[in-house]
Amino acid sequence: MKFQGSENYVATQDLMLAVNAAITLKRPLLVKGEPGTGKTMLAEEVAQALNMPLLQWHIKSTTKAQQGLYEYDAVNRLRDSQLNTADSAERVQDIRNYIVQGVLWQAFTADQPVALLIDEIDKADIEFPNDLLRELDRMEFYCYETRELIKAKHRPLVFITSNNEKELPDAFLRRCFFHYIKFPEAETMRQIVAVHFPGLKDELLTVAMKTFYDVRNLPGLKKKPSTSELLDWLKLLLAEDIPLEALQSADNKVSIPPLVGALLKNEQDTTLFEKLVFMNQRNR
Ligand SMILES: Nc1ncnc2c1ncn2[C@@H]1O[C@H](COP(=O)(O)OP(=O)(O)OP(=O)(O)O)[C@@H](O)[C@H]1O
Ligand SMILES: [Mg+2]
Repeated sequence: MKFQGSENYVATQDLMLAVNAAITLKRPLLVKGEPGTGKTMLAEEVAQALNMPLLQWHIKSTTKAQQGLYEYDAVNRLRDSQLNTADSAERVQDIRNYIVQGVLWQAFTADQPVALLIDEIDKADIEFPNDLLRELDRMEFYCYETRELIKAKHRPLVFITSNNEKELPDAFLRRCFFHYIKFPEAETMRQIVAVHFPGLKDELLTVAMKTFYDVRNLPGLKKKPSTSELLDWLKLLLAEDIPLEALQSADNKVSIPPLVGALLKNEQDTTLFEKLVFMNQRNR
């Protein structure tokens, strides 16, 4: 099993290395990086490339570790017990009918090796990663209601993504292989754009990329635009048929690009950018 990138996803050499290292170590791959740098998509693409089904678990602030294992549906059981039909009476007898399997349970009991994505682990409360330590390490857990040990038939390939909103505990980090997706350099970015817009004219791309990196490199930006925002912006430029000249002033000075709302996402950043453009024009 080796990941070598895919048609839809541009993976740098070190990213491929990281994926393969996690596979070799049989440890979860912890992926960090700015929003929109392809963390979630990585799991989808690796799963597809290695021909594994992908189970996804999207973490929210209210998500508990137990939900990934299983939940006991007491309400449904109570309802069945009150229904008084032969069918429901039979169902009530077996507690197994009220155990709702979580993603980890499904991943552990699947007949073939699967990929498991635990997306945005930093959204959950601080106990969440600690609560999953043993399950991810030993690949087993105990179901008290049915008194059975759920053990992984095949070790799933685990991807964990984080946007760094919270620190992860050391004991958790020890068990992962870590990779930070660096913001793509111009050459990689060109390849990513080519994947999404195969026929894009070179001149337009060059000018758009220059504007994009100029905006991104503005000192003091609150929210830097990322890969997915560049893609959105290009899509708009194409859809609106924006001419090259609108992106590029004759004297190569900075100007406010059209549809800048695709790149800058708050008023402070827009104001900052406008000020800079204004100063630039005055210095002419
Ligand atoms: N290396 C890449 N190759 C191809 N497309 C990419 C790449 N990186 C990012 N993209 C594009 O950017 C979009 C956003 O990627 P994705 O949703 O995986 O980001 P993310 O890192 O999970 O962001 P968030 O932290 O906000 O969840 C993808 O849908 C894809 O179109
Ligand atoms: Mg994501």
